[in-house]
Amino acid sequence: MPKRYTVTSALPYANGPLHIGHIAGAYLPADIFVRYLRLRGEDVVYVCGSDEYGAAITMKAQKEKTTPRAIVDKYHTMMKSAFERFGIAFDIYHRTTEPIHTETSQGIFLKLYEKGEFDEQESEQYFDEVANQFLADRYIMGTCPKCGNENAYGDQCERCGSALSPTDLINPHSTLSGSKLVLRKTKHWYLPMNKYESWLKEWIVKEKQNTWKTNVYGQCKSWIEGGLQSRAMTRDLDWGVPVPLPNAEGKVLYVWLDAPIGYISATREWAKQNGKNWEDYWKNPDTELYHFVGKDNIVFHCIIFPIILKAHGEFILPTNVPANEFLNLEGDKLSTSRNWAVWLHEYLDEFPDKQDVLRYVLGSILPETKDSEFTWKDYQARNNNELVAILGNFVNRPNNLIPKFFAGVMPAQYELSDYDKNVLAELASYPDRIGDLIKNFKFRDALSEVMNVARLGNKYLADTEPWKIKDNPERIATILNISVQIIANLSILLKPFLPRTAEKLDKMLGFDGKLTWEDAKNTNWVKAGTLLQKIDLLFEKIEDDVIEKQIQKLTINNQQQTTNNQQSQTIAMANHSNEVKPLQTPINYDDFTKLDIRIATIVAAEKVAKANKLLKLTLETGIDTRIVVSGIAEHFSPEEVVGKQVTLLANLAPREIRGIQSQGMILMATDKDGKLRFLQPSEAVVNGAIVS
Ligand code: 2FM
Ligand code: ZN
Repeated sequence: MPKRYTVTSALPYANGPLHIGHIAGAYLPADIFVRYLRLRGEDVVYVCGSDEYGAAITMKAQKEKTTPRAIVDKYHTMMKSAFERFGIAFDIYHRTTEPIHTETSQGIFLKLYEKGEFDEQESEQYFDEVANQFLADRYIMGTCPKCGNENAYGDQCERCGSALSPTDLINPHSTLSGSKLVLRKTKHWYLPMNKYESWLKEWIVKEKQNTWKTNVYGQCKSWIEGGLQSRAMTRDLDWGVPVPLPNAEGKVLYVWLDAPIGYISATREWAKQNGKNWEDYWKNPDTELYHFVGKDNIVFHCIIFPIILKAHGEFILPTNVPANEFLNLEGDKLSTSRNWAVWLHEYLDEFPDKQDVLRYVLGSILPETKDSEFTWKDYQARNNNELVAILGNFVNRPNNLIPKFFAGVMPAQYELSDYDKNVLAELASYPDRIGDLIKNFKFRDALSEVMNVARLGNKYLADTEPWKIKDNPERIATILNISVQIIANLSILLKPFLPRTAEKLDKMLGFDGKLTWEDAKNTNWVKAGTLLQKIDLLFEKIEDDVIEKQIQKLTINNQQQTTNNQQSQTIAMANHSNEVKPLQTPINYDDFTKLDIRIATIVAAEKVAKANKLLKLTLETGIDTRIVVSGIAEHFSPEEVVGKQVTLLANLAPREIRGIQSQGMILMATDKDGKLRFLQPSEAVVNGAIVS
């Protein structure tokens, strides 16, 4: 009986496109694992889907000035298509806004509730009286108590990295309305995780020590030994799975409760569509469960979700959670908010036939034990020096020689030399070795071993040089036959890693695609007489200009994003002051047209004697050069203002200030800290330009 496997990859939030960091973290490794299991003939279901609830979505909707529904529809479609184009072979890519997910997660919540697994607790949380809602931590901003950053979030200060809770913030305010916040009582259902500490010590600390990756095991152990707190499993939010209890209006399930249940609802949907029993994959103790995630998701998959599954009582627990560390990009952290990323959909648009090149490069640098780094130069080098020079080069030799010497027909094997036998014995040893590496989540090493098969082939041809052999057609036939056997086994071993390349090899060899991993141990199964098809080059050299363009694009995107972020921050700061004075009595248009407002440049400035607040400014107005006395000396030094363009009320009747004739008034704005700011045109304009 084949074993049964349930494999999951973290459900990505449907609030933005996928980048290569996501792929290297939770998708490519799982895809390799699953493709390998399928080749072994195992019964496996691989599920994933979009994580469509929670503050991550509502905040994005707020930013894009649209609804959460529009956001999840947009990004779900985008991610689903990018996964398909890239070749991540999910059995189902589901979504957490589907009714079957609501039903599944509410069912699990209710079962836990009925078993008395939750503590009902009232606590005080920040409430925005203007927006009339409780706020998720990310919606609250204030001053970080650790470093003084005025723009710290309710859960974290991005300047000093401190983890915060909203009540730690000094001067907390709402990012929704800008208003100050009040504390209000609210009721939630908490999971008392401390109840499960001793079980976790047994199940993880003792049992998983030798099978879980060191990075994963270490994180779990320190969490468990540090003591576990109760965690609220519900939130006051209007976007999520409603809490299925009376008197719970406006409350939804915590997104980290419903999201992993998304794996179960996705399996239910898949089973329904494919005539399977979903419970075989979640409740049968013979099934092994694997969660592939990035390191920021470890605690949720190793501690919180297993507690839920255990508390429920009917589910299996994860056999392993082979979490990866992070992938960096060109010396810096990948970042969506700074647009420092290689976006998967853009890569696929720009390199539509190079999915396997990216799979190869990412597969070679997966952050399996520590953070790793993607650079475009390395991408180019691995393509040119490995895919083209080793794999492509090897395959291309028999691909050219067999049509030339044998009219495209697979030649027979005649007498084998010792060297031939050694090569074939070595070839036969790869499937088990590579399989063991895959089973132990050492995908980088596994891929490197696959390339060693191509290296073996190259060396064999370089040593035997069939193209130089004269008067011995049987020897030429034998060498080329063996080379094709190497290609044939390569085509199987490559399938988990480079599926499109493997398909091209299948085409060359005329396979029907129903081979198994075990077949790669047979080193003589492409039969003499088979008609082989000549195929195009597997890989092409990538030139410097292509790479330079990508590096430039990164920098440009990043600069544009930084400017956008600064602008949004300025707007947010301007919006958040709630001490805006009420409007004055309306005036009519004629009143307005009486004001002659111009742009002028300050060409000289000096302090006014015995007046702390006043500067005597000389202005070039385009009409004349004039003096204006302005009360800005406490905010600006004379040196600071010279050269600045300013907005001048030019037809204000002159008046004498401290014995100086002042001709006009400079218009200023006051920021939230009471500091004066000049009103300047966004680009320099000629002096005398009219402001209207
Ligand atoms: O970190 C994230 O992107 C989450 N959306 C992952 C959820 S994984 C699972 F629990 F669904
Ligand atoms: Zn800080």
